[in-house]
Amino acid sequence: MNEEIRKKFGVNENQPNDWFETLYSESNDSGSGVPWANMAPHPVFKTWIDKSTAPEPGKTALVIGCGLGDDAIALESKGYKVTAFDVSESAVALCKKRFPKSKVEFVTADLLKGISSWHQKFDLVLEIFTIQALPPKYESVLIKNVSDFVADQGQLVMITEVQTPKRVFEKGPPWLLNHDYIQSFESHGLTKVSNTSSLDSEMGEEIHLTVFKR
Ligand SMILES: C[S@@+](CC[C@H](N)C(=O)[O-])C[C@H]1O[C@@H](n2cnc3c(N)ncnc32)[C@H](O)[C@@H]1O
Repeated sequence: MNEEIRKKFGVNENQPNDWFETLYSESNDSGSGVPWANMAPHPVFKTWIDKSTAPEPGKTALVIGCGLGDDAIALESKGYKVTAFDVSESAVALCKKRFPKSKVEFVTADLLKGISSWHQKFDLVLEIFTIQALPPKYESVLIKNVSDFVADQGQLVMITEVQTPKRVFEKGPPWLLNHDYIQSFESHGLTKVSNTSSLDSEMGEEIHLTVFKR
């Protein structure tokens, strides 16, 4: 995004969560005005989940920065007991409105603060484009807090765009990650299992799907 768009959304490095609520509160259940809304699971995630084996009964999943909720619903359909959260109350309200019959627990919570009651609680944690939606100065706390949700023997599935130039506030959002995010997760007790990349056909960015295990 250029500076003009940053100003339009009111993106503020020191109040990094606020513009999401502004954006979703002006949207509706068709996702109008939400630039990342697919109104369907992310296509890279959809391919991954379709190929993965169904979980044993009772396995839990957490969706971070769930937006309008489609990825959470895909995990529920696969057989997980799903919790999904977003910092925007309006986004969470839209999820509940869109999927009234779902048993997904949609809640409002802030990844920057961490959620101690979810310490190593989830068998599968899904993060798509949330770390890169927050300014670079929060990267280490975000990576620590995401890692903290992953249960013993659990996995983190992460989809992110990656760039070589150093991340700087003036160039985002989004602030595409640098390749060293993998080592950062590994320093929090996770081990990379796989990392596949593809080129986004619209934006030309490198998209990585990385799976980590604890
Ligand atoms: C770029 S969007 C991606 C949404 C969704 N994962 C997707 O792929 O469509 C980033 C999402 O993270 C949410 N978010 C931003 N900051 C957050 C925070 N501190 N805690 C939880 N969610 C946050 C936003 O409201 C937004 O829904």
